[in-house]
Amino acid sequence: MEIVISLNQITKQFKKQTAVNNISTVIHKGELVAILGPNGAGKSTTLLMMLGLIEPTNGEITLMGDHPKHKRNRERIGAMLQEVSMIDALTVMEVIQLFRSYYPQPMAFEQLISITGLQEEDLKKRADKLSGGQKRRLSFALALAGDPEIIFFDEPTVGMDTSARRNFWRTVEEMNKKGKTVIFTTHYLQEADDVAKRIILFNQGKIIADGAPIDIKRKLTASSVSFAANDFISLEMLATIAYVMKVVEKDGRVFLETDHTDEVLEEIFARKIKVKDINIHHGRLDEAFEQLTRRGGEFVESSLDAV
Ligand SMILES: Nc1ncnc2c1ncn2[C@@H]1O[C@H](COP(=O)(O)OP(=O)(O)OP(=O)(O)O)[C@@H](O)[C@H]1O
Ligand SMILES: [Mg+2]
Repeated sequence: MEIVISLNQITKQFKKQTAVNNISTVIHKGELVAILGPNGAGKSTTLLMMLGLIEPTNGEITLMGDHPKHKRNRERIGAMLQEVSMIDALTVMEVIQLFRSYYPQPMAFEQLISITGLQEEDLKKRADKLSGGQKRRLSFALALAGDPEIIFFDEPTVGMDTSARRNFWRTVEEMNKKGKTVIFTTHYLQEADDVAKRIILFNQGKIIADGAPIDIKRKLTASSVSFAANDFISLEMLATIAYVMKVVEKDGRVFLETDHTDEVLEEIFARKIKVKDINIHHGRLDEAFEQLTRRGGEFVESSLDAV
């Protein structure tokens, strides 16, 4: 697969503060990547370096094989940053036209308008008069104005209402299906879990986990098969099922903790154990995230292969 972004031993030092500490990774064409991590972990700094807006103190970043700032890259990337400043004196329509004019093959005006989700009367407003959420929607449209190959979003959905959020992620997924590479940060872990195909987790300037959401969850949180308890099932017998690590009875249900929920289910059916109201539980991303950021880097090196 074609590599579109490559980070090679990147460090960013702000005076005494090491914002990003010797990270290396590559991102391939068509990936949909979430960068997660606590406040101050180095996410925005890393995005800004990928965009060429700040230079690393050490290490090398390439974007499509060139320096991020190379003029060939200008048309290929779109970004929606954490801090937005609107061009004050222009109306929404004028700002969109202005941004389109920067690019050789801009996205259609109507399409961008529809992405903003703004009503007719709002389009004539000055951009700085829009509400917070409306401004986010406009910056989303502006990020796409050049119909870019790689799109960066830093906490894009902050301040968006439920419907704006849904439209935002639907558009992102459509763009990704067309082969665009998308990299975003968010503190809404559920969004990352729902949308991202890969999660890169930052903590204190380092990458502490990297992988598909399901793998990260599976490796760090317990899964279980549970069913309604009844008098005929022996807990000792359940404990003999392969891959069952622990049997717990709680609130009228029996929980079989396991890393292999499918195999445990198969065995339950093979043994014709009469169980009712079966439920499969996989750990949530926020549980995995908690564990990782609490324990710090050393734990992860050995437990997640992808790093
Ligand atoms: N221009 C700057 N000058 C000095 N320090 C900076 C600068 N930009 C970032 N930092 C510091 O670098 C560290 C990483 O900041 P960064 O903005 O990358 O974090 P983040 O992961 O994006 O956090 P958040 O979730 O709050 O957005 C922080 O400690 C921050 O104070
Ligand atoms: Mg940030």
